[in-house]
Amino acid sequence: MNSVFTANLDRADTPDKCDGGARYVHDLQVAGMLHAVTVRSSVRRGTITSITVPELPAGYVQVSAADVPGVNQISYFKDPCPFFAPGSVQYRGEAVLLLVGGDPAKLHRLARQTIIEYDEIPAIHTMEEALAGDKPPIFGSDNIYIEERFGHGDVDGAIARAAEVFTTTTETGYQDHLYLEPQGVLACPEVDRMTIYVSSQGPHAARKVVAAALGWDEASVRVIQTTVGGGFGGKIEPPMFLAAQSAVAAHHCGKPVRLIYTREEDLLCTTKRHPSRITVTSALAADGSILAVDIDSLFQGGGYSQSCAMVLDTGTKKASGVYHFPAIRVRGRGLASNNPMPGAFRGFGAPQNYFALETHLNALARKLGREPLEMKRALFIKQGDATITGGRYHFATGLDETISAATEAAGYYRRRKALPAGPSTRRGLGQALVKFGAPNSVDSKISLDSRSIGLRKHSDGRIEILSELVEMGQGLHTAFRKLVARHLDLPVKRVSHAPGDTDAVPFLSITGASMSVVLFGATLLEAADKLKARLDEPGEVTILQPARQPDHVFWDATALRGEPFHSYAWGTFIAEVEVDMITYQVQVVDLWVALDVGSVIDRRLVQGQIEGGAVQGLGFSLLECMPRDGFSCSLTDYLIPTFLDAPQVHGLIVETPYPPGPYGAKCVGEPPLVGVGPAIADAVANACGVEIYQLPITPEYLLQRMTKR
Ligand code: MTE
Ligand code: MOS
Repeated sequence: MNSVFTANLDRADTPDKCDGGARYVHDLQVAGMLHAVTVRSSVRRGTITSITVPELPAGYVQVSAADVPGVNQISYFKDPCPFFAPGSVQYRGEAVLLLVGGDPAKLHRLARQTIIEYDEIPAIHTMEEALAGDKPPIFGSDNIYIEERFGHGDVDGAIARAAEVFTTTTETGYQDHLYLEPQGVLACPEVDRMTIYVSSQGPHAARKVVAAALGWDEASVRVIQTTVGGGFGGKIEPPMFLAAQSAVAAHHCGKPVRLIYTREEDLLCTTKRHPSRITVTSALAADGSILAVDIDSLFQGGGYSQSCAMVLDTGTKKASGVYHFPAIRVRGRGLASNNPMPGAFRGFGAPQNYFALETHLNALARKLGREPLEMKRALFIKQGDATITGGRYHFATGLDETISAATEAAGYYRRRKALPAGPSTRRGLGQALVKFGAPNSVDSKISLDSRSIGLRKHSDGRIEILSELVEMGQGLHTAFRKLVARHLDLPVKRVSHAPGDTDAVPFLSITGASMSVVLFGATLLEAADKLKARLDEPGEVTILQPARQPDHVFWDATALRGEPFHSYAWGTFIAEVEVDMITYQVQVVDLWVALDVGSVIDRRLVQGQIEGGAVQGLGFSLLECMPRDGFSCSLTDYLIPTFLDAPQVHGLIVETPYPPGPYGAKCVGEPPLVGVGPAIADAVANACGVEIYQLPITPEYLLQRMTKR
């Protein structure tokens, strides 16, 4: 392996982030800048009958749907969504108007004094209510934002002739991203132009949204990406709303307007992981082998669909796990509710589906008295097998190697049956297997060739990467610099990353779904190939390279047939837990995460993603608890893991190259999170002797399970 890849490079963003030099949107001050504070709906659902704003001091204004010069809509999603409440509200915390003025404290006071009256409409609190249809629907006639079915074989026939039918239902709750930096934007109007500074995962998407909100052409809007203090999917949707709102306000006032959320606001009204309820049924032959699997997956969306369709779609396509079942049917539905608004979150629907499937199989193995990994092995996907959408697993899978790596490091087979119990504690080891497809094949009609990435050789020999993909902590810009340096055979320090500025870098994509390296890294190398031939030319040389699908990918978006994903990472998760049998507190002692990420571009970055993702998964599995129809607006109620909760995370890297990826690389951003839940649940089940069907596994839930027997 080339030394550029084996060397752990210091990240270009580290010094600034460590010494305070990084400029977050909150750090930006411009002359004459006004502040904005959002006035929000205090009810879940209703028609607005009156808005009474207290008398505003000179220089203070209100801005609402009536002031939008273009369209009051974010049309990035499958179904458009208003960015100011359009006379009615669908969730508590929905933005009704902005108050804009010079003093943030005064604005907060005025916002508290603003009175909005509603004709309330009965709110939909649960997925049962959404499906029951006895309240006025939020969306269409049936509250279903999206429904998809995938599968093959005769599932009903298998169930009819099965010796036994085994069913489990699992539930998962909300999770907040809890990035360190709350949402924020600064909109600066100039003559016939608007410049937006925003912490977002997609500057060009923000530009489209702002242009539509102002009714301008896109060329009149410039979006400058500020340092992102963590995204995790949470800076895909909300920044579009903040950008549109503040642009309208800045246009209205003719002055720069900055909108920064407090932590409480951020927790109240930004997106969260979709809660889920998933029923898995397997048809068993007399010897216990699985004839067919039926999966019914419900995701609880919010009052608007936002990215519900995208999340449900990728999650449903992943629902068959690492298995090729003789017959399978997966039905996924994303439902409307008037609860807090869910959206994109690391894993994109996979954590919910893997918790469901792996928990089902682990419970089945316990019921049949079989060793779970051996039981599962009989069903593993092999290279050449068909996908559930009629595509093919074209390339070698590293699943077996991840199992070997994790089981050996954990001493799984040796220690599993003989873990020490204390006077009031019990220990358990649990496992889960996952695959992670990336990128998702969404719609081949949205051609990749309108998207591009560039390289610029400056006359002093510096090479600059022209890409809108966002560094949000995952180390992407470091990986990209290493790829280019390796390909051009140059020292890494000669390669830098252009600022994320829509005037400077072409439209490519939102940064998300772990696709940056596996898909666009390959495009970057194609640009580097072209630049290589021109490296010795004097002066500046700029290459723009359109993205393209790899040759093996075909997706029919109408029939939902073809390759659901381009490539697959594979993983084995093993958790060791200690359960306090008096308090029912679960402590994860060790977590082994073995991932096949394809060729590694930077080992330390991959390890960092594994550790961070695993701890975020631990929060989802044990701690992060928000009532499904309620709200947590404070970190006193909403607990996330601290160093004290973090176990030793053993990242074990397996490298099975993906030929179309850059130097064989796949993805690593999301996979480390997705198998943590089912592995911990399995470990708790083994320690306590009860099946675990809910995340997070709170002490209250475990007490309930233990006393119900
Ligand atoms: N790591 C850090 N430190 N901060 C983040 O915000 N986002 C995650 C993951 N790792 C995130 C992170 C999410 S949600 C995604 S989709 C991937 O990084 C994106 O990684 P990629 O750019 O390699 O595709
Ligand atoms: Mo990640 S949820 O796709 O930003």
